[in-house]
Amino acid sequence: MTLVVPSILSADFARLGEQVREAAAAGADRLQIDVMDGRFVPNITVGPLVVEAVRRHTTLPLEAHLMIVEPERYLSDFASAGADVIIVHQEASPHLHRTIEQIRRLGKRTGVAINPATPLVVLQEVLNELDLVLCMTVDPGFGGQEFIRATLPKIERLRGMITQHGAGCDLEVDGGISAATAPLAVRAGANVLVAGSAVYGDPEGVAAGIARLRAALA
Ligand code: DX5
Repeated sequence: MTLVVPSILSADFARLGEQVREAAAAGADRLQIDVMDGRFVPNITVGPLVVEAVRRHTTLPLEAHLMIVEPERYLSDFASAGADVIIVHQEASPHLHRTIEQIRRLGKRTGVAINPATPLVVLQEVLNELDLVLCMTVDPGFGGQEFIRATLPKIERLRGMITQHGAGCDLEVDGGISAATAPLAVRAGANVLVAGSAVYGDPEGVAAGIARLRAALA
């Protein structure tokens, strides 16, 4: 079954707890918190405090997507704040094997994200250590961007690589996921979909946004 993971990036932060509860009640499988430092990506968002706040409003698994430089410095902060999955960017992690081991030692699930221009080969030596690979379908930094269709063959190749390695990790995609693009990503091999604006920007509300995504995959 394809998992739907709303990203709170597009939520109304003035009523974040309510928006978190809405997504959970509407059947979200996990929630993703987009952490941005203004250096790895041009935007600045939230840190461990917001993970802690979200944690108090749901029992859903929380993914901390660290779009930051030196993510290894903050792993224990996000683990203590209540993240269940910690996703670091390969492009920001020169000692990626050690970083993955650190996440594992904190008792959290491990995720590695790669940007659209980053080749799959960078995952080769660690793929079997991962619980999740996040194949970005936009250049990270902002919600509401256009899905980069050129990533579809990359998703297919990544699915082939996971199968070839006998790896058990999720293939997650993030960026521009909507009712129109979700089926394309799943057909290419994704089994976890992160969606921000398609959920929190739906004019009929969060439940409608999630339902629209699920209907597109039916
Ligand atoms: C990177 C962020 C966004 C967000 C989803 O910019 O990671 O991709 O999660 O944003 P939407 O679903 O609005 O493209």
